[in-house]
Amino acid sequence: MRNIVAGNWKSNKLLNEAQEFTDPFLSALNELTGETEVVIAPPAPYLATLAKEGAYRFSWAAQQCSAHGFGAFTGEFTAEMLRSTGVQSVLIGHSERREHFGETDEVVRAKVEQALAARLRVFLCCGETLEQRESGRPEDIVCAQLEHATTGLTDAEGLVVAYEPIWAIGTGRTATADQAQSMHAAIRGWWAERFGPDAAANLPILYGGSCKPSNAAELFSQPDVNGGLIGGASLKVDDFLDLVRIADGLQNG
Ligand code: PGA
Repeated sequence: MRNIVAGNWKSNKLLNEAQEFTDPFLSALNELTGETEVVIAPPAPYLATLAKEGAYRFSWAAQQCSAHGFGAFTGEFTAEMLRSTGVQSVLIGHSERREHFGETDEVVRAKVEQALAARLRVFLCCGETLEQRESGRPEDIVCAQLEHATTGLTDAEGLVVAYEPIWAIGTGRTATADQAQSMHAAIRGWWAERFGPDAAANLPILYGGSCKPSNAAELFSQPDVNGGLIGGASLKVDDFLDLVRIADGLQNG
């Protein structure tokens, strides 16, 4: 399975800053020869402009989409709209969306449905709070999130999982490689029961939460870690390129 390194810019950068990043980044990416798939999720207003730019093994993602289709939903943008701009994937269920924008498990499930129907690949985000980790069995919390988000799906086509412990996002505190590996193995085990062993073996599971060039090699080299969803360290060309190089160097087929 190819590693994936995906950048989540969150609410950062003006359009000109996004373009100032994109040109040198994509040129440099074209010079590298690795196999890691590279994705960036910029702020939605820039997608139609940025999605005209591409590179080998690179694609654009949105940070979320509407839980609805077309209609009287002022301010919303649908998965179909995203698809029509050239976007290929969407993050769904990020903990910041759950915490600040009232995204319940039901809303996450509806967004997954919309995105898959629009043929967008879904980066399904999950993760536990510090209290949930300390109360034991964080795997149960995370697998329950996955269960809600995939209710009714008959196959796992188009799904990528991003495990992002909430206590590690933007805090500088990263899960240890052992913590990440043990959660990723639990996710893969749950996936095998839910969708079968082949789907589980082919599921990319990304780690997110203060992942940066100094800790990525250890995280990405875990057997069930297939790359990263990167916030802060995706905002600088050099850091993000370093993460791609690290994932390229570890690619083991
Ligand atoms: P971080 O964010 O790398 O800044 O911790 C990761 C994310 O929220 O996707």
